[in-house]
Amino acid sequence: MLLRQLYDHESSTYTYLVADPASGQAALIDPVAEQQERDLALIEELDLTLALVLDTHVHADHVTAAGALRARTGARTAASARGAPCVDMPLEDGARLRVGAVELEVIATPGHTDDSLCFRAGDQLFTGDTLLVRGCGRADFQNGDPGQLHDSITRVLFALPPETVVYPGHDYKGRTSSTIGEEQRWNPRLAGKSRDEFIALMNQLGLPPPRHLAVAVPANRACGATPVAS
Ligand SMILES: [Fe+2]
Repeated sequence: MLLRQLYDHESSTYTYLVADPASGQAALIDPVAEQQERDLALIEELDLTLALVLDTHVHADHVTAAGALRARTGARTAASARGAPCVDMPLEDGARLRVGAVELEVIATPGHTDDSLCFRAGDQLFTGDTLLVRGCGRADFQNGDPGQLHDSITRVLFALPPETVVYPGHDYKGRTSSTIGEEQRWNPRLAGKSRDEFIALMNQLGLPPPRHLAVAVPANRACGATPVAS
């Protein structure tokens, strides 16, 4: 499997290019609207065909490139059935997606948002905002629920083999990846804390709303279409 990690500095978002070099089939996970030229150029340079565009959830901090990439390349878009109604393939827990010879397993991990998904390809796990390196996504809007987030991380993701590589949806300190075992041991929001302690901690974060919440959420529910000014 070919894997590239791409970064959007403005929103600290990671986009992942996953491809099967033999067939040339490729998928993008969490592409950012402003970075679509960069991503398409890379796909072309690597002689790949974009077949699938995946979003881990309806993002609040950037606008997805999914709709634009679908229009430009004919790629199919996929995300949770509980998220944007505009996707071609509404996904449920346990679904399997094929990108050439690469198989991506869909794992529902509600909590950051009610539509959050992770995607697993063998021992590589794309965690969106559910599990970050030494952190996790907030759970205070878009039907987020700290208890549900704790269950998704500790009962679902932490049940995966400890050597599973974690590729997060964001990082704000320059870290690029981790492992499930590392996060079990060192994630300060989870290690040595009870479910109740985690919920209390998440409820006390007091974070300001994401900068682009009012624009990004409606746009992303329309697969990245620019909202009409009113
Ligand atoms: Fe998010």
